[in-house]
Amino acid sequence: MALFLKCLALGPMDKPWKTIIEPFKIKTVEPLGFTTEAQREAVLREACYNLFAVAADKVLIDLLTDSGTSAMSAEQWACMMRGDESYAGARSFFTFEGAVRRLTGYRYVMPVHQGRAAERILFSVTGGPGKTVVSNSHFDTTRANAEASGCVALDLPAQGALDFDTPADFKGNIDLKALEDAIRRIGAKNIPMIVMTLTNNSLGGQPVSMANLRETSRIALHYGIPVIIDCARFAENAFFIKRREPGFSSRKVSEIAQEMFSYGAGAMMSSKKDAFANIGGFLALNDPEWAKQSREILILGEGFPTYGGLAGRDLEAIARGLEEVLDEEYLTYRIRSIEYLAEGLRQAGVPIVEPPGGHAVYVNAKKFLPHIKPEGYPGQSLVCELYRTAGIRAVEIGSLMFGRNQDGRFVPASMELVRLAIPRRVYTQSHIDFVIEVFRDIARRKDLLPPMRLIEGAARLTHFTAKLMPEPA
Ligand code: F0G
Repeated sequence: MALFLKCLALGPMDKPWKTIIEPFKIKTVEPLGFTTEAQREAVLREACYNLFAVAADKVLIDLLTDSGTSAMSAEQWACMMRGDESYAGARSFFTFEGAVRRLTGYRYVMPVHQGRAAERILFSVTGGPGKTVVSNSHFDTTRANAEASGCVALDLPAQGALDFDTPADFKGNIDLKALEDAIRRIGAKNIPMIVMTLTNNSLGGQPVSMANLRETSRIALHYGIPVIIDCARFAENAFFIKRREPGFSSRKVSEIAQEMFSYGAGAMMSSKKDAFANIGGFLALNDPEWAKQSREILILGEGFPTYGGLAGRDLEAIARGLEEVLDEEYLTYRIRSIEYLAEGLRQAGVPIVEPPGGHAVYVNAKKFLPHIKPEGYPGQSLVCELYRTAGIRAVEIGSLMFGRNQDGRFVPASMELVRLAIPRRVYTQSHIDFVIEVFRDIARRKDLLPPMRLIEGAARLTHFTAKLMPEPA
């Protein structure tokens, strides 16, 4: 039986080889941005120590995000040539709609220019003052859009999700008991939806189990609240279910994904992640009234409902990507490549969120740099050092992103992490080996990394535009 399962995991490969290879060969290449340390030092100063302000050609290995950074396949490029650019009723829309419907089963499919547009539209329709949106964890734009509509965004992560040292299979889950308590306390009529983020990006890219989704849906149905799935990384989530959840090892990932969607009443997707597209997304709903109102806002801000701010060729690339991402050879490699980076970092003595997620490894900067207090932004200090040392770009997920200034008082985030997000099908093992070597180098002199001081920061989504300075030693 064990052997049988192994063979299944290997797909068409018939021997349990130790090395899991990149399941593609390279057709087009792009040079990396090599710089000297002096140049990088100047770049950092000019960018006010905010890596979002650094030009990408000054970056050697860009792990800022896995969003919109995928390499598209030859087939996706071929599909793009078939893009129908008609304003209304383009053929490409129907291809797109068919792909989304086959995957999700939802009736009304609206393309949008990226995930946050779906969030803005849905919260404009359903949110507003006095309402609370409940989630396993809102991603930062999801939270910002919910709050911009006037409602409260409440995170109810599973117990243990913030214990970064202890691995567990499904740390992305929602806390079901806290969910029921919250519904009773707040009142079902004040909760327009439960958002399930798959995988849970804000808390380490951790997956949500099918059992947790099923139970959330049961509770939601009981109280008459729709479940909306933020499915940016649905395929990685489905693959983790196949790997980790009893009863799923012989199911196809595509079927697992379909079952996941069956527990929701709609989905918001950024197709810049698990659709290998460089732009795009969708809002898919079952409720005709929500769909009608959403379409009106879509026309106002995005475009006619059959293109929603995208070109016909983008719709084609997304439709194709939604199918390609469910390839099990690809997912085996994808999850293994993240684990490989995690193993290297552990060996270098770098504490990470355990276990590694589906799209990124999250370094626990609070633990790695205990000499820097949260108000000194340890994550940002590490982000700057990665760039200064070797031109690696990563992102802080900590007090710069989530900390607040309340009545002149600094309120830190509950975590200080640095995310190393891996673009899909872009970097090879030698790039990752290099990243590990750089971490080994930094680990040796980590006690010298300086705290950072925030000089300027917007009230919302501070991290994108913040200006910082290293504190003098
Ligand atoms: N939901 C999740 C879970 C996300 O990770 C993102 C984006 C969005 C929604 C918004 O989608 O960018 O297309 O508007 N995450 C990117 C990241 C930005 O780097 O994790 P978008």
